[in-house]
Amino acid sequence: MIIHGVNMKTTVSIIKADVGGYPGHSTVHPELVKKAEEELQIAKKQGEINDYFVGKCGDDLQLIMSHNHGVDNKGIHKLAWDTFVACTAVAKKLKLYGAGQDLLADTFSGNVKGMGPGSAEMEFEERKSEPLVCFMMDKTEPGAFNLPIFRIFADPFNTAGLVIDKGLHHGFSFEVYDVMEHKRVMLNTPEETYDLLALIGGKSRYVIKRVYPRKGSPVPEKEPVACISTDKLSQIAGKYVGKDDPVALVRSQAGLPAMGEVLEPWAFPHLVSGWMRGSHNGPIMPCSMEDATPTRFDGPPRVVALGFQVADGMLNKPVDLFKDIAFDHARKKALKIAEYMRRHGPFEPHRLPAEDMEYTTLPEVLEKLKERLKPME
Ligand code: F6R
Ligand code: MG
Ligand code: MG
Repeated sequence: MIIHGVNMKTTVSIIKADVGGYPGHSTVHPELVKKAEEELQIAKKQGEINDYFVGKCGDDLQLIMSHNHGVDNKGIHKLAWDTFVACTAVAKKLKLYGAGQDLLADTFSGNVKGMGPGSAEMEFEERKSEPLVCFMMDKTEPGAFNLPIFRIFADPFNTAGLVIDKGLHHGFSFEVYDVMEHKRVMLNTPEETYDLLALIGGKSRYVIKRVYPRKGSPVPEKEPVACISTDKLSQIAGKYVGKDDPVALVRSQAGLPAMGEVLEPWAFPHLVSGWMRGSHNGPIMPCSMEDATPTRFDGPPRVVALGFQVADGMLNKPVDLFKDIAFDHARKKALKIAEYMRRHGPFEPHRLPAEDMEYTTLPEVLEKLKERLKPME
């Protein structure tokens, strides 16, 4: 966007939090959406943000904002924080479940990172046309994005453009976080594909944070083309406070994966960790925002995709992409897998391995049985 001869970059930020579920952990009360819209409308009028859309996925309230302040901007993060605080007051009045659960601090300290909410942000020079998808998940964790993001940007069986479009043929660069050791590494595909997979196959520890274009791409190399929220709530709080329920932004078309290539991986409802009590494996089911209301066994986990055409800093009205009948088959498949997984009850691999569970009674059970545990022969 050109303003007074200066080329202003556009930033898209999605900042989300669970500030109260309705009923239980299933969805967001309409009054919370209304309150968030009111707050962001004021910010838009005051010129703090260019545009906004308030979304929801399961019990998570999603603030999608466009502005010119860059990523990690204190004002934008404070706006999101204050909006969540205002919504928490509504949630408390309505006695919604877990009101304010993701606001881990009493006062805002400059950036929502480490304070409970999750965020994904990208600053970029708007292209001639800028299609962007905002993915929102509930009842799972950031590693749930590893498989689909890999497929979008590095799997030629998913993305035909990697093979037949010269804008994509040289591949992409992946920024991977080790969330346990707090380290990061850049890996280039296609030549480091196997190293990348060796890490991101371990999705509870290694998560894709960003994807960048490579030399020769029509998009500048320094501009991310995908960004995933990686906030680890359980590690932030040092105790269980709910799964991370991640979000992601993905830019598309004209030298990037086409819209249909960005959506293609979701036709396969892959297994993710989360679901009931953040302690079970289950299929991720693509669905519309209206249908993102986890019910059966608090699930199965959901993913919603909102498609925007960003124009001159404005988000404009999104299209609810998974509403399309083309995803009916994936939904049916997800329900079949959910049924199959549920039949395992408390057994792995439905139940997560002990180290990945968010709820456990194992230490207490072992303590109780301490005296009765005898050496085997
Ligand atoms: C999973 C989730 C829910 C809750 C479950 C128990 O991410 O949010 O499955 O873990 O409903 O909730 P509490 O312990 O609050 O009764
Ligand atoms: Mg909740
Ligand atoms: Mg949630």
